[in-house]
Amino acid sequence: MIETNYLIIGSGVAGLTFAIKIANQFPDRKITIITKSYEDESNTKYAQGGIAIVTDKTQDSYKKHIDDTLICGDGLCDLGVVEMVVTEGPQRLKELMDWGAKFDKNSNGTLDLGKEGGHSKNRVVHHKDQTGYEIERAILGQVHQKKNINVLDHHFALDLITQNNACFGAYALDEKTKEIITFKSNLTVLATGGIGHLYGHTTNPIIATGDGIAMAFRANAQIADMEFIQFHPTALYDASLGSKFLISEAVRGFGAYLRTKNGNRFMLDYDERGELASRDIVSQSIDLELKKGENECVYLDCTHLDRDAFIKHFPMIYERCKTLGIAIENDWIPVIPAQHYLCGGITVDTNGKTSVENLFACGECSRTGLHGANRLASNSLLEALVYSDKIYRYLADFTVVTRPFDGEILDWKTNENPEMNPEYLANMKSELQLLMRKNIGIVRNDLDLYQAKKVLLLKQKEFESVAKKSQISTAVFELYNMFTIGQLIVQHSIERNDNRGGFMKMVTVEKRI
Ligand code: FAD
Ligand code: SIN
Repeated sequence: MIETNYLIIGSGVAGLTFAIKIANQFPDRKITIITKSYEDESNTKYAQGGIAIVTDKTQDSYKKHIDDTLICGDGLCDLGVVEMVVTEGPQRLKELMDWGAKFDKNSNGTLDLGKEGGHSKNRVVHHKDQTGYEIERAILGQVHQKKNINVLDHHFALDLITQNNACFGAYALDEKTKEIITFKSNLTVLATGGIGHLYGHTTNPIIATGDGIAMAFRANAQIADMEFIQFHPTALYDASLGSKFLISEAVRGFGAYLRTKNGNRFMLDYDERGELASRDIVSQSIDLELKKGENECVYLDCTHLDRDAFIKHFPMIYERCKTLGIAIENDWIPVIPAQHYLCGGITVDTNGKTSVENLFACGECSRTGLHGANRLASNSLLEALVYSDKIYRYLADFTVVTRPFDGEILDWKTNENPEMNPEYLANMKSELQLLMRKNIGIVRNDLDLYQAKKVLLLKQKEFESVAKKSQISTAVFELYNMFTIGQLIVQHSIERNDNRGGFMKMVTVEKRI
C-alpha cells in the first residue's frame, strides 16, 4: 500500500496544475500523480488552437467572452460559472507564463490573438499550432522541480476506494510489475480527460477512454450532460479509424473556406457567420452535406491565404499536409467531423467537489456548467486551469477535515486467470465503436438510441462475464469503462428531448438547421 496526502489521477493540464499549486502550498505533504501512459501523454499535449482569454480590453471585454460562451452553450450554461471562469482567465494565464509557457507575440510585444468558431473577437492565446504541447512542457518542468510530487507513469487507475459515500484513494495497476497497488489518500482528484476512443473516430489520443467518469459513476458520483458530445468539424480525412489529426479551427479563423467536392462554399447556406459559426453548427452542417450525396468528406480551402503567414501560424499542420502530398497553397485539405470533446462528465461545484466526499474532479472529465450544450472553442484549457486552481484554493484555505476510513482498506484480490483473447477484445471494442458512431453520432433518433441501448446491454453483459474470467489488464478495464460511458451517453440522449447545441435528435430524417 502507498499512502499519500493527495492522489491525482491524470497528468494533463488539469492534474498537473493542481499538483504544482498544492505542492507549493504544503511542501511537507506528499502528492502522488498516477497516469496510465507516458507522463506527457494526454489530450492536453495535442491542443492546437489555444486558450480563450480576454487580454486586450481595448478590442474585447469579459462581457463579450461571456456572451459568446452563453450563445454557444445554447441556453444551458451556468451563468455564475461562465462569469467566474472568464474573469479568472488572465490571472491563470499569467501563472502559466510565470511557469515558463511561451505564447506567440506580435512585433510590438503584445500577445498574438487567434480567432475560432463562435468567438466575436480575436482572443485565443496560442503557441503556433502546438499550444497544448507547450503548456504540457512548461507545467511538467515545474512538477519535476517539486520534491514532494511523485509521478508514477504507466499506472492505470482501476477503481476508487470508497466507503459511505466518501473516497479514500484508488487501486491502480502498475503496468511494469503487473502488481495492483492500493493508494490510500486523504483527498483524490480525478483529472482523467475525455472519452474519444469510445467512437474510434476521434481527434483524441488513445488514452481517452472515459476511465475517470466510469470510476466516479461506480462510486455513485453524480454524472451529467453526457449527451453533449462535441464533434470537431475538421479532422483530417482518411478512411482508417483511430486518432485523427486535427486541422485547427484557428485555420478557419485565419480565413480558410469549407467547400464541397464541387466547390460550393456551403456554410453560408447554414449560418451567416459561415465557417466561423460555432462548432456544433459547422459539424451538423457538414453531416447534412455529406448525407446529401456520395461524398465521404468536405474540403478546407486555404489556397487564397498567404502561404508564408500560414506556415508561421500553423507549421505542424502545414508539414503534416505536406507529408501526405497536400500542398495547402494548391490543394484543398480533405476533412470530416470527428469526436473531439465531452461537454458533460462528473458533476462538480464551483470548488471542483464531486458529490462524493474527499473526491474532486477537474478538466475534461468534469461537468462544471461552463459549456452547457456545446463548448466554445478554446474554453477547455481555460476551464481546466481555473478549476484546478479552485480545488487548490478550497483545500488551501480551509482546514478540510477528512473522515477516516472505518476499518482497514483491503488490497485488491488478484487472480491467476488467463489473458483475454486479444482478438475477442479487439472485435468487441470495434463493435462498440461502430455502434457509437452509427447510432449515437452527430444526429440521433430515438429508434437508433433504443436499439443501441439494447445491444449495448447485451454486449456489455457478455463482455463482463468473459472479463471476470480473464486477467486484469489496462485494455480489458478500458473496454469495461467504455461500455459504462456508452450506457451513460445513450441513456442521457434518450432522456433529452430538445435539440440544443451539439445535441440533435431527429423526429424524422430531414434538415433541421
Ligand atoms: P488530459 O489532458 O486528457 O489528461 C488526462 C490524463 O489522465 C492523461 O494523463 C491520461 O493518461 C490520464 N488518465 C486517464 N485515465 C486514466 C487512468 N485510468 N489511470 C491513470 N491515468 C489516467 N482545448 C482548448 O481549450 N484549446 C485547444 O486548442 C484545444 N485543442 C485540442 C486539440 C486536440 C487534438 C484535442 C484532442 C483536444 C483539444 N482541446 C483543446 C481540448 C483540451 O485539450 C482538453 O479538453 C484538455 O487538455 C483536457 O485536459 P485534462 O487535463 O482534463 O485531460
Ligand atoms: C482547435 O484548435 O480547433 C481545437 C480548439 C478546441 O478544441 O478548443
